[in-house]
Amino acid sequence: MVTTLGVALGLGAALTFVVLNFVKGASKPTPEDIAQDVLEQRASTVPETDFPEPYNRSIGGGGGAGAVAAGGAEGELEDSEEEDEGFDPDAIADDEVEYYEIEFVNEGETIEVANNETLLDAGEDEGWDLPYACRQGQCVSCGGRVADGEDASEYIRHSANESLGESEIEEGYMLTCTAHPTASFSLETNETP
Ligand code: FES
Repeated sequence: MVTTLGVALGLGAALTFVVLNFVKGASKPTPEDIAQDVLEQRASTVPETDFPEPYNRSIGGGGGAGAVAAGGAEGELEDSEEEDEGFDPDAIADDEVEYYEIEFVNEGETIEVANNETLLDAGEDEGWDLPYACRQGQCVSCGGRVADGEDASEYIRHSANESLGESEIEEGYMLTCTAHPTASFSLETNETP
């Protein structure tokens, strides 16, 4: 009986303590939120620029978040620049030049063509009158085709191509003025999609 009374008193005291603390906590005034004031004050010290967010923040020293975002944008730019980099035959070192046997079917001869040389140039060196116009991969006048119609990307690499689509290249077509051999094959000149 004494034990039960003791437990009841203990529980009562604990409950009273909790209720008192709750009332005290609830009546305590909430401190004024100064976050907005601080933000406005900081914003007023950041110089205005013509750059869109978040660049003006990072330039004005407005915080790490802006700097991180700007860094990310630079990374994307580098990626796209890398994608735009084409094959440059002039960058092939002398000791890396390779030669392939190219059969010019219509001309009836097989010649060696270096991978830093175009098929058109190599054919003209033989004295053949091959078709061309721009010589820069911008038209299809110089078009040729892998003789058996296999995917041309297995045999050549274009240093410039603004005319042929992926599916046409897969059907064997190429621009001989900018096509450099990467394997030996038979070429039909004067072939366009
Ligand atoms: S001559 Fe124009 S793409 Fe080859």
